[in-house]
Amino acid sequence: RAEVQAKSLALSEVMTSAGDFYRQQLRAAQNAIAYLKGRGLTGEIAARFGLGYAPEGWDSLRAVFPDYDIAALVEAGLVIDKDDDEGGRHKRYDRFRDRIMFPIRNTKGQVIGFGGRVLDGGEPKYLNSPETPLFQKGNELYGLFEARQAIRDAGYALVTEGYMDVVALAQLGFPQAVATLGTACTSTHVQKLLRQTDQVIFSFDGDAAGRRAARRALEACLPYASDNKTLKFLFLPSEHDPDSYIRESGAEAFEREVRDAMPLSQFLLNEVVGDNDLSTPEGRARVQFEAKPLLQAMPASGLRLQIVRGLAQLTQTTPAEIEALFELVQPVAR
Ligand code: GTP
Ligand code: MN
Ligand code: MN
Ligand code: MN
Ligand code: MN
Repeated sequence: RAEVQAKSLALSEVMTSAGDFYRQQLRAAQNAIAYLKGRGLTGEIAARFGLGYAPEGWDSLRAVFPDYDIAALVEAGLVIDKDDDEGGRHKRYDRFRDRIMFPIRNTKGQVIGFGGRVLDGGEPKYLNSPETPLFQKGNELYGLFEARQAIRDAGYALVTEGYMDVVALAQLGFPQAVATLGTACTSTHVQKLLRQTDQVIFSFDGDAAGRRAARRALEACLPYASDNKTLKFLFLPSEHDPDSYIRESGAEAFEREVRDAMPLSQFLLNEVVGDNDLSTPEGRARVQFEAKPLLQAMPASGLRLQIVRGLAQLTQTTPAEIEALFELVQPVAR
C-alpha cells in the first residue's frame, strides 16, 4: 500500500514537471501559437487551461528529465519503451511530439494525463495518455477542475465530447463545460457531476457519433435520474460541435440552445419510438420492448412514473399495464 502511494506520487510529480515543460515550450513555438490563434483562442484562456506544446524531437523530455531511463516516465505514458531492436534508432522516445498539449487534472488540480492534438491533418488527431494508476479515462472529465466554481455559479454542468469544446465554451462565456476523454460518458462521470450540481446538460457533436454518444449518456444517466436532478440533452445542427457552433452563431444562440435543451424524459421517449409505427399493435409493442430495459434501469421515482405515463399514452396501454409488463419495482409504501 505504501509502495502504491509512493509510485503514484512519483507519477504525479513526473506529470507536473512535463506539464510545466510543455507550457514553457508553447511560448517559443510560433507554429503552435499560430494554430491556437487560428482557432480563436486567446493567450489568457490558453494559460487558464495550462495548454502547452510538445516539441518535434524524439526525446525532448530529456531537457526536463536528464535521467531519461527512469521507469516512471514510461509508467506515466510520457515515454514509449520499444523493447525490441527492429533496427529502430530510438529505443525510448517521447509519446507526444509536435502536438498541442491539454493537461488533464484531477479534482485536486494535479496533472494526471494529457491529450495532444496534431497541428495539421495528421493521424491520430488526438493522442491521449494511456491509463495509469493515476489516470482512468472512464472516471475523469477534462476541465472539471477548472469548471468547478463555474458549475456552482451557473447551477449546471455542460458535458461535451472534446477538449476544444471545453476551452472554446469557457472563453465565450460557458466556463461550466467539461468533456469526456474520447470515451463514452459513463455512470461514474454522471455520478461525479451530480455530486457537484443537480443539473447536467449534455451537448455532444451534431454528427452521428455525437448522437450515439447522447444515447450512451442517456443510458449512463438512468440509474441516477431522480426527481431532484435535471438531466438534459442539447442537439446541435449536424455539421456542428459546441466549439464550431458558438464561434459561428455566438454565445446568445448557444444560450438559447441551453435553455431549449431536451429533458431526459422526452429524449428517452423519442429514442424508444424511433421510426416505429405507433398506428400498429406490432409497432406499439416494439416501442414497449425498446423502453423496457431503459425503464428497468431507473430507480422508482416520480420521474419514472411520468415516463411510464407518457409511454402508456403512446402505446395505448395504461401505466399499471406497463408496470406489470416491465415488472417495475414499486417504491415501498410508507
Ligand atoms: P477538433 O478537431 O480539435 O475541434 O477536435 P474535436 O474535439 O471536435 O474532435 P472530434 O469531434 O473528432 O472528437 C471528439 C473527441 O474525441 C476529441 O476531443 C478527443 O478527445 C477524441 N478523439 C478525436 N479523435 C481522436 C483520435 O484520433 N484518437 C483518440 N484517442 N481520441 C480522439
Ligand atoms: Mn534518440
Ligand atoms: Mn465528432
Ligand atoms: Mn471540434
Ligand atoms: Mn467535435
